[in-house]
Amino acid sequence: MILYDAQDKTYTLHTKNTTYQMKVWDYNILLHAYYGPRLSGGDLSYPLRCADRGFSPNPSEAGTSRTFSLDTFPQEYSTCGVGDFRLPSIELELPSGSRTADLRYVSGEVRRGKYGLEGLPAFYGGEEEWETLSILLRDAAAQVEVELLYGVREEYDLITRAVRVKNAGNETVRLCRCASLCLDFVRSDLDLITFNGAHVMERCPSRAPLRPGVQSVDSVRGASSHQHNPFVILCDRDANEDSGLCIGAMLLYSGNFLAAAEADQFENSRLVMGLNPYHFSWTLEPGAVFTAPEAAMVCSPCGFGQMSRQFHKAIRKDLIRDPWAGRRKPVLINHWEATEMYFTADKLVKIAQDAPELGLELFVMDDGWFGARLDDNAGLGDWFVNENKLPGGLRALVDRIKALGMEFGIWIEPEMVNEDSDLYRAHPDWALNVPGRGPSRGRNQLVLDFSRQDVRDHIYGQIKAVLSSADVSYIKWDMNRSLTEVWSAALPADRQGEVYHRYVLGVYEFAERLRRDFPHILIEGCSGGGGRFDGGMLHYTPQIWCSDNTDAVDRLRIQYGTSFCYPVSTMGAHVSAVPNGVSKRITPMETRGVVAMHGTFGYEMDLSKCTPEEKETVRRQTAFFKEHCDLIHDGDYYRLSDPFRNGPYTAWEHVSHDKREALVSLVTGPFRGAPPFLTLRIKGLDPALRYRVNGEGSWSGEVLMQVGWPLPILRGDYQALQLYLEAE
Ligand code: GLA
Repeated sequence: MILYDAQDKTYTLHTKNTTYQMKVWDYNILLHAYYGPRLSGGDLSYPLRCADRGFSPNPSEAGTSRTFSLDTFPQEYSTCGVGDFRLPSIELELPSGSRTADLRYVSGEVRRGKYGLEGLPAFYGGEEEWETLSILLRDAAAQVEVELLYGVREEYDLITRAVRVKNAGNETVRLCRCASLCLDFVRSDLDLITFNGAHVMERCPSRAPLRPGVQSVDSVRGASSHQHNPFVILCDRDANEDSGLCIGAMLLYSGNFLAAAEADQFENSRLVMGLNPYHFSWTLEPGAVFTAPEAAMVCSPCGFGQMSRQFHKAIRKDLIRDPWAGRRKPVLINHWEATEMYFTADKLVKIAQDAPELGLELFVMDDGWFGARLDDNAGLGDWFVNENKLPGGLRALVDRIKALGMEFGIWIEPEMVNEDSDLYRAHPDWALNVPGRGPSRGRNQLVLDFSRQDVRDHIYGQIKAVLSSADVSYIKWDMNRSLTEVWSAALPADRQGEVYHRYVLGVYEFAERLRRDFPHILIEGCSGGGGRFDGGMLHYTPQIWCSDNTDAVDRLRIQYGTSFCYPVSTMGAHVSAVPNGVSKRITPMETRGVVAMHGTFGYEMDLSKCTPEEKETVRRQTAFFKEHCDLIHDGDYYRLSDPFRNGPYTAWEHVSHDKREALVSLVTGPFRGAPPFLTLRIKGLDPALRYRVNGEGSWSGEVLMQVGWPLPILRGDYQALQLYLEAE
């Protein structure tokens, strides 16, 4: 519910459990008044105090009055160069060369439904569920208008934000910074949690108290990155899974981003999130509009668990567009870890041969099927089937796979090119490179200039022809290096600051075309595993390969960190062979299955090499997963322990919406002598219902939640256990 109080000049956004308020203050400055647990109403700006503070200047309209400063009051969208010295949200370069922005409130409009963003991913939904608030701000001197957009999804406690900047004057201006979200707090006793890592170890949470000054995470790699995720949490110092105020903020963007928090001199704080200003500038001709990517916030007054569950629901229902929505997705088998690029059609068929009988439903052919792709030094950019490997073309192989009773999926990496390719030999200028430099190589490949329509059209044409040549129902879209030497031959010198963002817009346009031309194809995103795991890609690719690290123990941590924002149904996760390719660790197959069920679920191994016992395990696991898939992928998710604490086990749980079913999964740590007696307290049950556990007994929800379930002593390292609870 969005309310405007004309007397108080406040806009109040209510969700089921939270309230957000902004207020038009003196001189038409838009202040941020409140974000927190739901309140019944009123003007919540009353604690804001006017005072003369040294070195905090006063707006020129204030004349000789010294008690109001942009530097001391919480701002709804911070400006720069006119008195607020904290993190700016927007920076304009005007024809005079000045670099300031000064925004004043003009008007606001509330309407039903959800705004959309041309060419950018955004939450979507109908007039029943969504409301939009549009606030118009103006910089009179610059003749620039800024529209702040807010989408309110009451049920999920979700507030989305986006920003449009319009040049309403007659001269060209340049936008040098344009954040999507600015959130001020009149306190700084908060913790900041970020999700960090590296290739093969993504999204590990890191929590620290805000300290004076700016703390930030970002990406300048052209993709959202393995290193830092565009999702952060600000929370009470003592917030935990079940209590404390926490606010999660995600950016729906797959390129360079910045998420910065600042604790200021008066112990207030600010979070700013959006496009990274590094190497960013956007030329706005008169009348032109720039749209900043969408950000989305969930505030939970009672801990991380509820915040995550609200994000999960919103992402599943109102962000992802899934051709399989409402249907169980096929359990897949991918041969990458078994063969890498060294395969023939016969080898692939051999791996697929036993799969249907074991319950697998989709065969994915990974990297190595096209051009002169004998290893990772050649072939990218030449998207035609290598008939030496696949005689008779794609169709012949797909027919063989389909004859086994399986669907077929294919790997692509459209944004990349090898210098050893027909494409590069014909169009060396299609790769990003700065004249006179590099290019730097990553995995011995270069990045195509996806900011260019002609480049995208060419690649799209090739890939469309391949996809049209056979019955393909799944694509794995990879992206295996970071961007360097970012310069486009197609843009003039003064517009090179647009290339990073135009690249991402190009990726989105390409994805949208794939979705339009092949609406039935399920696309799994991937960037060397989880290098582009963000809300932007999820709008186009309902699932993303979570990490190139398939070691079950490391995956417990990676998937735990990922789950703070992203639902289990989006996390690509497979059972692979041991010793694991990354860690060399040996874990039981049972455990690998339980961990992969914490995601999309599939296998990545040579099934033809499995023992009869292993095959039996695969059969059992796929049957179990299919039976409980709705509960796992659609249920409410609870983290029951933190794998980074090196406790005796890692446990998590899925509970159905009606609380009549729950699945608890648990993996122990390394075995130690004299193991303690452990009791696991289960969460989210109905206290009044009675449950059977793995088909036996009768336990009240109340008892299982308060007293818990006595865990058996599991001998051996990394043993797994699952408890299926069903109400009587
Ligand atoms: C990336 C992916 C892997 C695999 C290889 C193929 O690393 O994450 O799963 O597809 O590329 O080259």
